[in-house]
Order: sequence, then structure tokens, then C-alpha cells
Amino acid sequence: MKYILITGGAGFIGSHLVRRWVNKYPQTTVVNLDKLTYAGNLENLREIEGKPNYIFEKGDITDAAFVNALFEKYHFDGVIHLAAESHVDRSITNPLEFIITNIVGTATLLNAARTSSISRFYHVSTDEVYGSLGDTGLFSETTPYDPRSPYSASKASSDHLVRAYHHTYGLPVVISNCSNNYGSYQFPEKLIPLTVNNIKLNKNLPIYGKGENVRDWLYVGDHVEAIDIIFHKGKDGETYNIGGNNERKNIDLVRLLCRISDRLLEREEGYAEKLITFVKDRAGHDLRYAIDSSKLQNELGWKPSVTLEQGMEITVKWYLENEEWLRNVTSGDYMKYYEYMYSQRQ
Ligand code: NAD
Ligand code: DAU
Repeated sequence: MKYILITGGAGFIGSHLVRRWVNKYPQTTVVNLDKLTYAGNLENLREIEGKPNYIFEKGDITDAAFVNALFEKYHFDGVIHLAAESHVDRSITNPLEFIITNIVGTATLLNAARTSSISRFYHVSTDEVYGSLGDTGLFSETTPYDPRSPYSASKASSDHLVRAYHHTYGLPVVISNCSNNYGSYQFPEKLIPLTVNNIKLNKNLPIYGKGENVRDWLYVGDHVEAIDIIFHKGKDGETYNIGGNNERKNIDLVRLLCRISDRLLEREEGYAEKLITFVKDRAGHDLRYAIDSSKLQNELGWKPSVTLEQGMEITVKWYLENEEWLRNVTSGDYMKYYEYMYSQRQ
């Protein structure tokens, strides 16, 4: 039996990845290491709880003694590292938390991996390390790093550390830098779940500045498919950009969510749009992100499976149908669920 360590597996993207891996690779045991911050939620993983090839380990990636002991215990064959503080707005109000988790946490894992016999250390990163684009151009793997928020600077630092461990110690690493993800189980502080939740609750839909900022949206299922392909076929020491080729201005995206929600909620057309409210802009708000993913597409044969409209339809429907999940994560009830589950097991 092989053991693979997935960090941050109780979060948004991590839970999609863990579910996929546990179901698709029954000969591999997935060890999910997660601190269960406000963003980690074991309810996201209910479907695979109790499967023989799934183990949850609650812990902090910055805790060297704990991380080293975990590597000793399982002799991992591979690591896929997603655990991070991930929300740009929070990094503006609390940068140190990001520096500690994203930089020190990654270094702690790399250090443990360095003296182990793993065959792959996969670091999941973001397109935000490349900075901000003007009206034209795309981020490629050779675009110079120019991070501009404490979040993106901490992710850029972690990318540099991963490459440094490859060059210095020969650690077999691979990195991917992905654009904005959307889909089920995303914490409703991020634009899409926040907007759908507010539409449902008849609350204002806050748009930063004039809503002119552009993001390149990718369905989370397509991201985890790319991670699977890169983990198995990517070349050591390489970086792969992942993106959906779905650029939208924030205001246009929110209007699309309004239209889909009105239809699904059987409200009159234009109802949700009236909730749009322009608010003070995010400090240092990057104007535009756009990804050139041709290396991944041409060399490893990945391509997105859904269009933005198809993915948004599935996503809006999921949030509208999973009111209880939204209510729980906004009220903190899922922490009670965790405490209950694990008190029963000990
Ligand atoms: P998320 O915030 O939903 O989940 C992060 C998870 O990490 C949570 O389960 C949390 O409990 C865990 N965690 C945080 N600090 C930890 C610590 N010290 N020790 C152990 N676990 C800890 O994040 P996400 O949106 O799923 O992003 C996952 C990864 O993908 C991050 O590294 C992020 O930078 C990257 N990424 C995200 C996006 C996106 O659009 N969401 C795009 C590109 C890259
Ligand atoms: O590009 C990849 C990144 O995408 C990931 O690395 C991050 O972890 C992830 O959080 C995301 O970052 P963004 O800052 O782009 O995501 P967010 O959902 O916070 O915001 C998307 C855009 O919408 C951004 O331009 C800010 C804007 N926005 C956001 C919120 C929460 C609003 O206008 N109003 C809002 O209320």
C-alpha cells in the first residue's frame, strides 16, 4: 500500500482532490493533514469518511515535530501540498498569519521531505505570483514574479523555496500555478459563493471599485484533473500554468450569477441585479489575471472539460441546493461537527 500526503484536504480545492484520489486510487492511502482553520471543513469529506484508504490527521504544517513524526509514521511516496491561508482580503488585515503558514509551513514540509524517500513533492500555487496584467497579454511559466499582496508574496516565497530545495538537495518537485477556481464547497468569503449566498438571502452584492478587474475562472473539477495529470506525468523541477481561458470582468461575472440565480429561484429577471452595490476597492487590487496554459495542454494533454457558463450553472445550483452547508459554515457549526466526530473516535 502506498501512502500519499495531501495537505489542506479539508479546504475547498483540497476536499475535491482528496475525494477524487480516494475514489480513483484504492491502492493508495490518502493521509489528509489539515489544521481545520475557519476554511477547513470535514463535512466536505463526508462521502469518503470511513473508506479504508483514507486517514485524517489534524495538525499544523508549521509544527516541525509533528510534521517530521508524520513522515516517519507513513513513509510517504508523494506529497501534494495545498494547505495555505488563501484569501487576499484577510492577508491585507493579517499578513503575518500568511507569512507563517504559507512560507514557514511550506519550508517545514520541504525539510521533512528532504530526508525522506518521496518520489514527488507537488506544490499547488497561484497565478497571483506573476502580479497584474494590463489590458493584453497572458501569464506564462517564464513570466517574472511580481507579487503585490501579502498573500501572493507569501505564495511566491513558497514557490522559490520549493525550487531551491530542488536545486540544492535534488528534491523531486513540481509546481503548478492556477487561476481563480470556482465550484462547490468554497468558503463564502470568496466572490462566487458570497454572491450566490447573498442573492439567496436578499443581501447586497458587494463589488470592489467599479467591477472592472478581470479574473480567469476555472472549474475546480478541471483543476484537480490537472493536478492528477501533473502529479503522474509532470517532469521534475518543472512548473505548469493552469487556467480556464475564461476571462471576465467582476461586474460581468456577478451579472451572470444574477441571471442564473433569478432563473433557478424562479424570480423575475433583473431581481438580483438590483442588489449590486459598489463598495470601496481592495487595497492594491490587481487589475487583471490571465493564464496561458498551452504548456500543460500540449505536453501533458490536459484541457478544461466545461465552459464557464456550464460550470457556473452547476455551481449556482449547488449553493442554492446546499443551504444547510452554507448556513453551517457561516455559523461555525461545522467545528462542532468535527469536535463530535473525533471525540467519538478517541
Ligand atoms: P482554502 O482556504 O479553502 O483551504 C485551505 C486549507 O488549508 C483549509 O482546509 C485549512 O484548514 C488548511 N490550513 C490552513 N493553514 C494550515 C496549517 N497551518 N496547517 C495545516 N492546514 C492548514 O484554500 P483553497 O482555495 O482550497 O486553496 C488551496 C490551495 O490552492 C492554496 O495553496 C491556494 O494558494 C491554492 N490556489 C487556490 C486558488 C483558488 O482560486 N482558490 C487558485 C490557485 C491556487
Ligand atoms: O487567482 C487565483 C486566486 O484566486 C487564488 O490564489 C486565491 O486563493 C483565491 O482567493 C482567488 O483570489 P481573488 O482575490 O481573485 O478571489 P476573490 O474571490 O476574493 O475575488 C475575486 C475578485 O472579485 C477580485 O477581483 C476581488 C473581487 N471581489 C471579491 C469579493 C470577495 C469583489 O468585487 N467583491 C467581493 O466581495
